[in-house]
Amino acid sequence: AAAEKGGYATFMEKEINEQPAAVRDTLLGRTDENGRLVLDDMRISEEELSQIHRIYIVACGTAAYAGMTAKYAIEHWTRIPVEVALAHEFRYCDPIVDERTLVVSISQSGETMDTLMAVKHARSLGAKTLAICNTHGSTIPRESDAVLYLHAGPEIAVASTKAFLGMIAACYVLGLYLAQLRGETYADDAKQVMAELHGIPDKIQALLDDTERVKEIAFFMADTRSVLFLGRNVGYPIAMEGALKLKELAYIHAEGFAAGELKHGPIALIEPGQPVFIVVPGPDTPHDLHKKVVSNIQEIRARGARTLVIAEEGDEDVVPFADEVIRVPQASPLLEPLLTVVPLQVFALHLSTAKGLDVDQPRNLAKSVTVE
Ligand code: G6P
Repeated sequence: AAAEKGGYATFMEKEINEQPAAVRDTLLGRTDENGRLVLDDMRISEEELSQIHRIYIVACGTAAYAGMTAKYAIEHWTRIPVEVALAHEFRYCDPIVDERTLVVSISQSGETMDTLMAVKHARSLGAKTLAICNTHGSTIPRESDAVLYLHAGPEIAVASTKAFLGMIAACYVLGLYLAQLRGETYADDAKQVMAELHGIPDKIQALLDDTERVKEIAFFMADTRSVLFLGRNVGYPIAMEGALKLKELAYIHAEGFAAGELKHGPIALIEPGQPVFIVVPGPDTPHDLHKKVVSNIQEIRARGARTLVIAEEGDEDVVPFADEVIRVPQASPLLEPLLTVVPLQVFALHLSTAKGLDVDQPRNLAKSVTVE
């Protein structure tokens, strides 16, 4: 068993450390000589794809947070409206779907019953269906018109890590491809973003080479009963994913909020000593979002919160209000999630370990839920 884990204590730790390779493999060979996306299986014509006027993303759990992250990027690049629906809600909410709707399912296993039923429902309504999936030959890809496999390698730990990064990368490739196909003036941009994406695995590696402090923080926090996570824009789903990892692995009550929502309610939860992770957008994020999140940190710190700040290297603005600063390499705003989630995964892993829990098989959970 130790050999299976490649020398790591748990599958989850192994899979976290495989993330540079997972993202690299997801991106590998994705564009042909004309810069067009190469899917693994395609039964939708380019003509049909260029007519798409609405996208629905359907998924559950961590895959749904990957979808929420992708919504920001796909809408920005394609100007196609993207709705993200939890797969089990989609079927019963009378979704507005027609033959010009692309329903993108995201699933690591390809066997999640809720997601499968959503895909079938979408097809019955005439939508085109595209599966983003990590498991070759699984049911959801077989039931879909097009397939983009992650090629992230098998994921054994129940809590998803490397598949999450692969899902975001795959969705981004899809978004860039759709932008090009629709003849947006983004063709050059797409190449630029792809080039930056190809540089992400090295940055993830740099993060993984320097996790000692995050591990220490986790061990100090073994008795913590509640942790909050704040993020904005693409950092918002990352805050929710950070909270989900902590619920799943450490059985700690955790919640992710949109930083702008703080003043509309959640700030009432802040009392002296309350730990709060804040995913800070890079200083070059449009609309002053960096400044706005820094002032959120200041507000909760003034009320006694213990602020655990995830910020770009070189971002000195956060320092006066941070109890801890966890550094991530610089990246364009939309690509930051591929980096900022990593310390949150590492934190949940070590907190679970510190509590003596089963990291790979948390109580009550299954890797793939094949019942509705
Ligand atoms: C289960 C797992 C989660 C996972 C979700 C979706 O609930 O415990 O970790 O995110 O299913 O799984 P999928 O295979 O569809 O990505």
